[in-house]
Amino acid sequence: MDFQLKTLTVAQAAAEKSDLLIVLVGSALPTAKDPVSVLAASARKAGDLPDKAGKLLALYRPEAVVPSRVLLAAIGDGKAVSVRSAVSAAVSAAKANGPKRVVIVFAQPADAAAVAAAVTAAADASYVYTTTKSKAEPRSIRLLTLGVPDAATAVSKAFDDARATVAGIELAKEWGNRPANHATPTLLAEAAKGLAKLPRIKCEVLGPKEVEKLGMGAFAAVAQGSAEPLRFIVLRYQGGAKDEAPVVLVGKGITFDTGGVSLKPAAEMDEMKFDMCGAASVLGTFRALGAIQPAINVVGLIPSCENMNDGKAVKPGDVVTSMSGQTIEILNTDAEGRLILCDALSYAKRFNPAAVIDIATLTGACVVALGGVRSGLFASDEPLASALESAGEASQDRCWRLPLDDDYAEGLKSNFADVANIAGRAGGAITAAKFLQRFTADYAWAHLDIAGTAWKGGAAKGSTGRPVGLLVSYLTNRAGSSNAAAAPKAEKAAKPAKTASPKAPAKPARKARSAQ
Ligand code: BES
Ligand code: MN
Ligand code: ZN
Repeated sequence: MDFQLKTLTVAQAAAEKSDLLIVLVGSALPTAKDPVSVLAASARKAGDLPDKAGKLLALYRPEAVVPSRVLLAAIGDGKAVSVRSAVSAAVSAAKANGPKRVVIVFAQPADAAAVAAAVTAAADASYVYTTTKSKAEPRSIRLLTLGVPDAATAVSKAFDDARATVAGIELAKEWGNRPANHATPTLLAEAAKGLAKLPRIKCEVLGPKEVEKLGMGAFAAVAQGSAEPLRFIVLRYQGGAKDEAPVVLVGKGITFDTGGVSLKPAAEMDEMKFDMCGAASVLGTFRALGAIQPAINVVGLIPSCENMNDGKAVKPGDVVTSMSGQTIEILNTDAEGRLILCDALSYAKRFNPAAVIDIATLTGACVVALGGVRSGLFASDEPLASALESAGEASQDRCWRLPLDDDYAEGLKSNFADVANIAGRAGGAITAAKFLQRFTADYAWAHLDIAGTAWKGGAAKGSTGRPVGLLVSYLTNRAGSSNAAAAPKAEKAAKPAKTASPKAPAKPARKARSAQ
């Protein structure tokens, strides 16, 4: 789907050739005298278009209007959240008619956040997965025109970034949705290599031998029960100076999680094809970086393998040696995410990172704690935590911070190794984070548990593409408004890592190296 941004009044939008016009009507009644604005005002007065975000009123062939279908959609206060629910409701309602060209027009001024919300919500509501269907009906919308009273610079930058973010979200959805036999570690690595066609992106892929050589005994142990060879994907985006410390993203890439010998129950086990959504979010974020070209360096690390049950599979009680040298007693083979991540977190150290963020569908306990609304956020660094929280709010891809008190690590003690890979049932999302934290002593670290937010179950089963929105927002904030192509390299080198995020509160850094 293509997007374009135009300066349009409601009257001008009604004159555009399209199959559907969606008019976003705020609390203030439209005062313009064109037929659609007059209808909207009178519908509001009559109570047929309540002033509540998401309420819709359909018009058919109104006079002097080019598109045959018009949808009035209330956006209440006009804030991003309201625009999101209105556009989502309107595009979903119009889907059945299969519109090819859609115009969405704001009947009143729209800020940057509202414009971004309209773009991402329209894309989300019209997304269709097609890859493994024999008679695929792709998404009907070819061109979406967004009309605003004034397509000013701030609005147009937000529009461009949102369009790039959508490309990233949809790449993440695609790989998340693909069944495990169409999304093996090898195929994921091919997708990552494909991203290296974008400017400033490079990709390197390691296989079983290299991983063994690196001493990644925990990662290798998870992979050993599968016929599919593991892959360790290293992506680099260089938008900043060569010596500028990068942000490292680490994505859990379990392409299928059976639980291994600690086998999962059969019900809904198919959903464990989504266990690589952390990895998919890293791919999606790189897709967006390639389009936005922010002045920042980013490394993406993806440990990817299957967690299978087999004669060669790792067994409960086995002790393995991680890349960090710490030995781990694998008491439950279903707690495999932390095993592949811990080695990737040790590998991250070599980049002297400004911050490391891992993204993982890590625990069922996080789904119990936060449901599908907010991702779990854990962080050992205050500025990093606040920057991620703000990015979540700004992109409407929210997270909620959970604690990392050392008391939670008690249950990870082992009689036979330095650490066990599980603790008791209580506080499972936190004990998983405490396990990971043991491997992150050398840098500012945050962990996003996306077990509840990465996909939806039930009738709407499918990947959400989260938290690509949060990550792109965090990274572009960090880079500020500078573009990689525009930033002179010498000057960038003189000002390392400390680009202040405009959205994050100015808190004093706890560590010498601020990760904000
Ligand atoms: N991939 C799962 C986490 C998961 C479960 C995500 C359900 C979404 C829905 C992870 O590998 C896992 O199995 N975790 C175990 C950990 C336990 C054995 C300590 C869990 O959460 O049950
Ligand atoms: Mn598991
Ligand atoms: Zn898993």
